Amino acid sequence: MRHILRSQQFDRPFLDKLFQRAGEHRQRFAKPRRRRSPIYSLQGRILVNLFWEPSTRTRLSFALAGLHIGMKVETTENAEEFSSTVKGGSLEDEIHVVSSYHPDVIVIRHKSEGAAERAAAVSQVPIINAGDGAGEHPTQALTDLCTVLWEKGYLDGLRVAIGGDLAKGRTVHSLVRSLVNCCEDPKFAFVSPPSLHLKEDTKAYLRERGVCFSETESMREALPSADVVYWTRVQLERYPVEERQQYEDLTRQYAIGIKELELMRDDAVLMHPLPRNEEVSPDVDADPRAAYFRQAEYGMYVRMALLEWVLEE
Ligand code: NCD
Repeated sequence: MRHILRSQQFDRPFLDKLFQRAGEHRQRFAKPRRRRSPIYSLQGRILVNLFWEPSTRTRLSFALAGLHIGMKVETTENAEEFSSTVKGGSLEDEIHVVSSYHPDVIVIRHKSEGAAERAAAVSQVPIINAGDGAGEHPTQALTDLCTVLWEKGYLDGLRVAIGGDLAKGRTVHSLVRSLVNCCEDPKFAFVSPPSLHLKEDTKAYLRERGVCFSETESMREALPSADVVYWTRVQLERYPVEERQQYEDLTRQYAIGIKELELMRDDAVLMHPLPRNEEVSPDVDADPRAAYFRQAEYGMYVRMALLEWVLEE
């Protein structure tokens, strides 16, 4: 079974093949609707989305990705409230039962780290991790790397500045690992206040592989040399209520606006997994380097290609 659980499982040949196929999907959508031939590569196959945490992009891009290639889609959003886990059922029991209804693939988002692996251990069908607490978000990492490739034209030798919540931002943990595994010689500058420093296990991952990285509180220091600027939101929901105000204030200190944009290279690309709060000002949306809305769109093409790979006969 082809589960997608962690970004460590990806390698470059996998990425090359996936992004090639995602590119074909993107090209198809570049045509006007009447000239677009429908594809039914996964005709009649069934995707179940099980989301215990809120989501717009990941949930809908998976659903639409499936629908666009002929799948049928069933979604439980807000499973925290509306699934039977509210009555005390365990994640394992839920997956056991749902997978026994013979869907072809289950996409799961959950608030606990390791949830997707627990699900995979009891599932009869492939599991795709759409975010497990502060752990990982491997399909976002695929989206992010595909965006870098399509926006910049290459994936090797990148200087990447990553800012925001590096402690609890799962997209960061997955992106860092997949850059290290799949791309030649990435260099990282991590920008955050000390309280949001990169999670220790991700740092250990870098050290063990001899990857060059720096940590700074200064955007002025990190932005000018970066090919890719990847900004993230403080994951307020993962902090105790009494600490949230302090983190919200930090968001404002580490915000990218017109002034920060001026520090960036002309050929840099500015990315964000979305949703954003105040850490990226809408004033920069019109700048051609601001790629986050394109990034969100590319995510659907990547997920179309990914579903095809997961369910390849
Ligand atoms: C991210 C997530 O859920 O981790 N969103 C997404 O899937 N694009 C980022 C976030 O919530 O900040």
